[in-house]
Amino acid sequence: MAKFLVQKSGPLNGEVVISGAKNAVLPLMAATLLAEEKCELSDVPALRDVEVMKEILQSVGAKIKEKNSSVLEIETKEILKCEADYELVSRMRASFLVMGPLLARMGRAKVYSPGGCTIGARPIDLHLKGFEALGAKIIEADTYVEAIAPEGGLVGASIYLDFPSVGATENIMTAAVLAKGTTYIENAAEEPEIVDLAVLLNKMGAKVKGAGTDTIKIEGVERLKGAQHTVIPDRIEAGTYMLAAAITKGQILIKNIVPDHVKSITAKLRECGVTVEITDEGMYVIAEGHELVATDIKTLPYPGFPTDIQSPFMSFLTVVKGASTVIETVFENRFMHVAELNRMGANIKTEGNRAMIQGGKHLEGAQVIATDLRAGAALVLAGLAAEGTTEISEIYHIERGYEKFVEKLRALGANILRIED
Ligand code: UD1
Repeated sequence: MAKFLVQKSGPLNGEVVISGAKNAVLPLMAATLLAEEKCELSDVPALRDVEVMKEILQSVGAKIKEKNSSVLEIETKEILKCEADYELVSRMRASFLVMGPLLARMGRAKVYSPGGCTIGARPIDLHLKGFEALGAKIIEADTYVEAIAPEGGLVGASIYLDFPSVGATENIMTAAVLAKGTTYIENAAEEPEIVDLAVLLNKMGAKVKGAGTDTIKIEGVERLKGAQHTVIPDRIEAGTYMLAAAITKGQILIKNIVPDHVKSITAKLRECGVTVEITDEGMYVIAEGHELVATDIKTLPYPGFPTDIQSPFMSFLTVVKGASTVIETVFENRFMHVAELNRMGANIKTEGNRAMIQGGKHLEGAQVIATDLRAGAALVLAGLAAEGTTEISEIYHIERGYEKFVEKLRALGANILRIED
């Protein structure tokens, strides 16, 4: 099994170019199933999760061509089967996103229990309630879930989400675009990835309005056509590099970033004493020579502070001066990095969804485990600030979501190696 070896590094210095967003590209790829014609997606990051989504699309009948390393042409003239296999779905929870498009185009979709990161229970009740509201019959068995549209197809409806779930909003959007009549999704997720999906769907001929607000209106259309689209930059990858600059007291220019998408992270870093400057070239994150102090954070749905940056931010909070509290409100089991950070010399106590951090610690390298994707990124950042060597195992989690992580960090001066054990 491959591992990362990380040594104390810094200050990191130089430029990094952000890749297309993992959490945008997965629903976009699934949405291409809605059309018989070819769709072309650019700025597709080379990630494990993208490979899994490719396999899922191919397994239902898509033909995929790589025009170059970051451009995919996906054509699904015919859907050969309306189900996603257990083996593929168990590798990635976002596989569930094919359910909306399959249900819309074929009138049925069957997906086996999702896998992915083990951060909390992550139920799919909101996705299913949405499909049901559109008229689908839901069959929930031990190992799979099936949705079957009524004769005559799905019918538009008003759907209120109890929580603004990103995946449920995406799945309901892709199910509703071909439904008869108008659908309203209220208390919808407002993440930039939702907006990106709406942009692609509208290019394909859908009528989606209000994406990026809490109410999305979708007028059903007869059919969708092919389209070309460039994936938005990955705001979580960008946030991770912002923190890499901060934790190593470096100075990084981040290119291909949408500053609006990382506003909450920028605000928090500024509170800690980091300089963030937005220019035409990109975003400069400067911590070199700065006196840095702790701040509190609370994760929330967008535009609140992203849960995916909670663990990388916590690594930073362990080394800066002062005490801080981190409250996680989105997932119920997202403190798995805490035990690992404490093994490296951090002083973090947790109580339910609250972590209390006593900052100003000198971290020491240790053997640690990447328990999920973002926890893994947090350990890499901690390793950059720790004395000695940090050996991180189970890095396949990290490789699900960070394109060329080692190369990009090394180009900034980080001392990180990927080794095969
Ligand atoms: C997406 C992102 C993930 C990010 C998360 C929150 C992708 C591929 N993944 O995940 O990186 O951390 O948004 O920003 O885009 N919930 C329910 N019932 C449901 C669905 C969700 O209770 O039917 C709960 C979940 O258990 C969780 C919360 O809602 O506590 C947020 O989940 P959701 O927004 O759906 O996250 P994902 O779409 O899975």
